[in-house]
Parts: sequence; structure tokens; C-alpha cells
Amino acid sequence: MTALRPTDFPHRHLLDIEGLSSRDITTLLDLAEQYVDLNRGFEKKLSRLHGRTQINLFFETSTRTRTSFELAGKRLGADVINMSVEGSSIKKGETLIDTAMTLNAMQPDVMVVRHHDSGAVDLLAQKVDGAVINAGDGSHAHPTQALLDALTIRRRKKTLSGLIVAICGDIMHSRVARSNIQLLAIMGALVRVVAPPTLLPPAIDRLGVEVHQNMREGLRDADIVMMLRLQTERMQGSFVPSVREYFHFYGLDRKKLALAKPDALIMHPGPMNRGVEIDTEVADDIHRSAIREQVEMGVAVRMASLELLTHSSAARAHRAA
Ligand code: NCD
Repeated sequence: MTALRPTDFPHRHLLDIEGLSSRDITTLLDLAEQYVDLNRGFEKKLSRLHGRTQINLFFETSTRTRTSFELAGKRLGADVINMSVEGSSIKKGETLIDTAMTLNAMQPDVMVVRHHDSGAVDLLAQKVDGAVINAGDGSHAHPTQALLDALTIRRRKKTLSGLIVAICGDIMHSRVARSNIQLLAIMGALVRVVAPPTLLPPAIDRLGVEVHQNMREGLRDADIVMMLRLQTERMQGSFVPSVREYFHFYGLDRKKLALAKPDALIMHPGPMNRGVEIDTEVADDIHRSAIREQVEMGVAVRMASLELLTHSSAARAHRAA
């Protein structure tokens, strides 16, 4: 594997896609690409993070993101600690910042943080000495999800530039949508969002996307169909009349998929609600669905993120100061 120069990634933290250049994104995806090969091999362990400590601090539930960050750190040789809110002092009323300062005193090199409030991870990053990776904050950002989606697309379609990507469903509450919209715009893809008006954020057109309320228009000739879960845990009140009606108008099934390009790729960040936003038959279509591949790419992208942040020029400068 090629050695990295510390100047290759000029960032101390990975909090948002905003602020990354197309060069930063390409550097990260190229490195992740090498880890895909490593992860497919028999011997999966390297020592690039040997001697480093990584704390995963999750204030919200997670299956794939947390496991993926844990495996990523371990495969690079880091010591990885997992903390969840259950069983921590947060349950006893400790504030986010006090928890962060307590963990910071143990000198972790990287903290991977997921929190239910938008902006909480940025706040925490201002208080600690090591690198911070945002593993999802409220409906704000989920940068490593957008990066793993980009890697999945780039491997299948060879490029991101010029592709038509339809992101469909609960755009309003989705940090995945927001991070993907930003990344795809930076890399030159054309993004459409498709949702009922109640699930579109107010200033959505300012994000430079095409807005559709009708799947028939939104999916036409799309290269990528990215489905999102209805994030009921972030909804106060009713945003859709009924699940049945929602599936009828916005659920992805064979008929709606036929409007996209014949080789259009189906994606979903998970967890999927089968029969709500996606029909089982299309979700499991081995020729069209990249949903499992997204999970695989997640480990590689997180390995690349951990490595770039711990070896970056910005991290070195901070340590030297
Ligand atoms: C997403 C998340 O947590 O934002 N899931 C994930 O990270 N794989 C999307 C979701 O919860 O619907």
C-alpha cells in the first residue's frame, strides 16, 4: 500500500462534508479502495493505528455504524473502547461536555461520536484534544455515510460526476440526505430529492438540488435510486397519512424502479423498513441492489477516515502546539 504524506488531508476532525474539497474526498476514497481489498483477504490486520486509542461514544442506537467503526479501528491496530449511554454516567445526569472532558482526560487519539442533537458533535470537538469523527448528529450530518455511499457508487459506475442521483423519502429528518447532497454536489453529480411536501425541509432548493414530489418524475432516467427510512423518532406529529398510502406513492417497487435507467442502482443506508419505503423484492435484488455493498464499503471508508485524521498535518500541528 502507498504511504500517505501527512499533508494529504488538511483536517483535524471529520464533522461534516461541508469544508471538504473534491481532492480531500478523492484522497479518502482512494485510500478506502485499498482497504476494500484488505478486508476481502484472509489476514485483515494492519498496525497503522498501533498504540492509538479510539473511543466510540454513542448517545443514539446504532448497529452498522458502531460495529463498522469498531472493526475499522481494530483492523488498523488501535485499542477501541465502546461507550453507549446505557450504563454510563450520562444516565446519572452528567452533561455532554462533562462526559467529553472526562473521556478526554484519558487521552484518546480519536473519538467517534453519535448524538441525537444537531450540532452536539461540533461542540464536543471544540473541547477535546484528539480527532473527532461525527457518526451522525440529529438531522444535521453523517459524513462517513455519504463517503461510503460515494465509494459504492464510484466502484459500480466508475465516476460520480454527471450521474443523476434520486434521494427519496424522509429528506426533512435525514442527516444522510444532507451529507449526500453536499458530497454529490462537490463531486459533480446531479441530485434530485423526491418526497411529499411534508417531508421536505423548508429551504431545500437552496441546496442546489432538483425537487420533485412525484416519484414518476423524480426517478426518470436516474442512475442511482437512494431510499431513506421514515425517521419517526424525529417526528413530532403526523407527517404521512398512513404507511399504506406512503408506500403506494413513495415506496420503491418494481413498477417505480422501471422509470429509472435499466441499470440503475438501488441504495439504502439502513435500517430498512420493508414495505414502508422499499419493497422486499427490490431490496433483495442481487443485480440491482447495492445495500449490502454499502455496509461493506462502510468499514473501508471508516478505516481511511481514522487513518487520515490520526496522520494528518492538522493533527500533527495540533499535537506539536
Ligand atoms: C442512518 C442514520 O443513523 O442516520 N443509518 C445509518 O447510519 N446507517 C439512517 C437511518 O437511521 O435511517
